[in-house]
Parts: sequence; C-alpha cells; structure tokens
Amino acid sequence: MIHNPFHFGEVATGENFTNRTEEIERLILALRGGHNIFLISPRRYGKTSLMVKVLQSLREEGFFTFYLDLFKVASMRELLEVYARGIAQACTTRAEKFSEIVKEIFPALRPKIIITGDNTPSLEVDLQFKGRELMDSIEQVLDTPERVARKRNRNFVIAFDEFQEIVNFNGERIEKLMRASFQHHHHVAYLFAGSKRHLIYTMISDPNRAFYKMGDILNLQKIPADEMRDFMKKQFSKGKITVSQEAADYILEVSENVPYNVQYLCHHLWNRCLNRKSVGKEAIDSVLKNIIAEQSENYIALWDRLSLHQRLVLKAICRFPEKPIFSKNFITENDLGTPGSVQKSVTLLEKKNIIDFQEKKIHFNDVFFKEWIKKKMI
Ligand SMILES: Nc1ncnc2c1ncn2[C@@H]1O[C@H](COP(=O)(O)OP(=O)(O)OP(=O)(O)O)[C@@H](O)[C@H]1O
Ligand SMILES: [Mg+2]
Repeated sequence: MIHNPFHFGEVATGENFTNRTEEIERLILALRGGHNIFLISPRRYGKTSLMVKVLQSLREEGFFTFYLDLFKVASMRELLEVYARGIAQACTTRAEKFSEIVKEIFPALRPKIIITGDNTPSLEVDLQFKGRELMDSIEQVLDTPERVARKRNRNFVIAFDEFQEIVNFNGERIEKLMRASFQHHHHVAYLFAGSKRHLIYTMISDPNRAFYKMGDILNLQKIPADEMRDFMKKQFSKGKITVSQEAADYILEVSENVPYNVQYLCHHLWNRCLNRKSVGKEAIDSVLKNIIAEQSENYIALWDRLSLHQRLVLKAICRFPEKPIFSKNFITENDLGTPGSVQKSVTLLEKKNIIDFQEKKIHFNDVFFKEWIKKKMI
C-alpha cells in the first residue's frame, strides 16, 4: 500500500519539500555571513518549512541553531523560559548534560530543570522573578547566544517565526530590549519570519520602531507554477496516477498555487483517484465540493462574526476579483458606500486574517472560503 504522498499542515521536509533553491541560497548566504534577514509572505506559502530547512543546513555546517515560534509563547515569562531552554538545548552536545549547560550559561537564572515523561528536559524559571528582575533576566538571556558563541568559537543562528507576535507581550518594550541586545551581536545572525504582513512591515519600516532596518527583507513568493506542476506529477506518479496538463492547470487555478492549498487539494484527489489512476476536471470539482461541505460549519461561524459591510466587501471581491476595490465604479456597483468604509472593512478583514494584499491585489488567505462564498452566498 503506497501512502498518500501529499502532506499539509506540517513542516514540509524531504521529498515533500520542493524547489526554493534560490531562497535557500540567499538565506544561507546572509545568515552565514552574520546578517539578519526578514522572511515575509502571506500565510501558508512555506515560510516555516523553508526556515527549518535552512537551519538544518546551517547546523550541518557547524552553527548552533535555534528555532522559536512566537505563536506558542504567551507571556514574557514563557518567552524567557522557552528561549533559555532552546539556547541551552542548541549547545548541549551528546557528551554534556543539559542541566550542567543551563547552570553554566545562565548562572543568574535560578532555573528548575524538569524532565518530562518522554525524557525531554524542560526548564522553569524561579517564579519569584517579577518586574525589573524578570526584565533584567531577559536581557541576560538575550545576550547568552553571543557569549556562548564567542566562548565556544561557534556562531549561532536564531530563527523567530511569527515575529510580529512579539508586541503582544509588553508592547514595544521587548522590541527595544531585543534591538539593544541584538545590535551588539557579531556572532549571532537572526532570521525573523512573519505572516501578518501589515504588522511586520510597520515594525521594520517605521523609523520610530526598534526593528527599523534591522535586516534585509526576503518577500517569499509562490513556488513557480512549472515547478509545482512537476512536483504534483511526480508525487501522483508514486501511485501510478496520471495528471493531464489541463487537470494540473486547473488544480493550480483553484488552489491559487499556494503550496498548502495545492497539497491539501492533491491529498484529497489522491484518495479519490488512486483506483482510477487518472485525475480529471470532474474529480477536482467533486473533491472541491466535498472540501467546502466539510468546512461549511467553520465558514458559517466565520461569516456570522462579520459585519454586514464586511460580508458585502467579500462578496464583491469574489464577484469581481480583477477590479480595483477602491475605485468609484466598484464601490457604486457593489453598493459599498464610501471609500472610507471600504478601507475600514478591508483593514478589519486583514486583521482577522481573512484577506491579504499582495501586489496591490486582494487575496483570500483561505481559497476554499472564497469558493464557499461563491457557491453559497452569491
Ligand atoms: N517547499 C515546499 N514544497 C512543497 N510543499 C510545501 C513547501 N512549502 C510548504 N509546503 C506546503 O505548505 C504547507 C504549509 O507550509 P508552512 O507551514 O511551511 O508555511 P507557512 O508559510 O509557515 O504557513 P503559516 O503562515 O500557516 O505559518 C506545508 O504543510 C506543505 O503542505
Ligand atoms: Mg509558519
């Protein structure tokens, strides 16, 4: 029995990771040279997978590496703990003990080491740490990679995923602390990734913000359509399933060639077409219909939480995807009131992660939600 080779919702690795050679090269070159870099794209383009791949290569080259997803951190204390643990783990070799490394590199942290059931060491910071003391410890922890790198003569590469979330902890104070610390680090390179693009752009393009011009920017694009077509065909061929050029083009069209969506759609198509050994338009339509039906409850709940005006804007975008949405024509034809009210709804929809601006055009973050609106609401 051949396993379904299309995977979604997890980091793409091995044969499930395609292309990105130029981006990998650019990121590695920057980080190896000690330069910071921001990796920005809409959701589900493959940032995390790319970061993991790059870190793996750099680790093989001999760097200490550490990846931190800020979506998983909910407070300053947690940040301190997760950061300290990650740094300690990154520099613990097989011959060394985690607890000894922690004591050596964080002498002032008064940490408690906890070994969980699956034998992974965890670290808890003294709960007495409050206010000023907590902030002082953060500063020390942030400076640790530089200290360790110098002492051990081995540079660090640290990747922050969903970096825009950092402001949720204590406003812009942590940003300032980070900048103050990172700008003196000559043996550590930082990779910052973000998917809430309006937030991350404000962080790095506003001269009053701490991360202003802290690094180069790599705007991650979609994987080129040709590459994606080849990837699909190769994966389908593992089940001896053929895909015509038209079918491949149609998959890319409905999934808007967003890597996650392509894999999601193909995963379901594989299950449906494994016995028939070919993928055609009718199978794609039917799978699409099923996906929309499966997600229907979620979409209804989402729709329910939108204002009437936001719904009107979404419907108008679905109907006329090519038209500029702030134009007079578009606004009057779709009964959207004033440009000001359209702007307000668009901003809120962006904040809710429903839509995103890319090359001056509006995109749905979830193309299946768009299909649902088209089928059920128009
Ligand atoms: N290089 C790639 N080759 C093939 N598929 C990919 C690739 N990168 C990403 N994908 C597909 O997209 C999915 C999402 O990838 P990933 O989590 O890396 O994206 P992301 O940009 O970090 O998403 P999010 O914005 O949700 O954090 C993966 O599970 C996989 O299905
Ligand atoms: Mg991600």
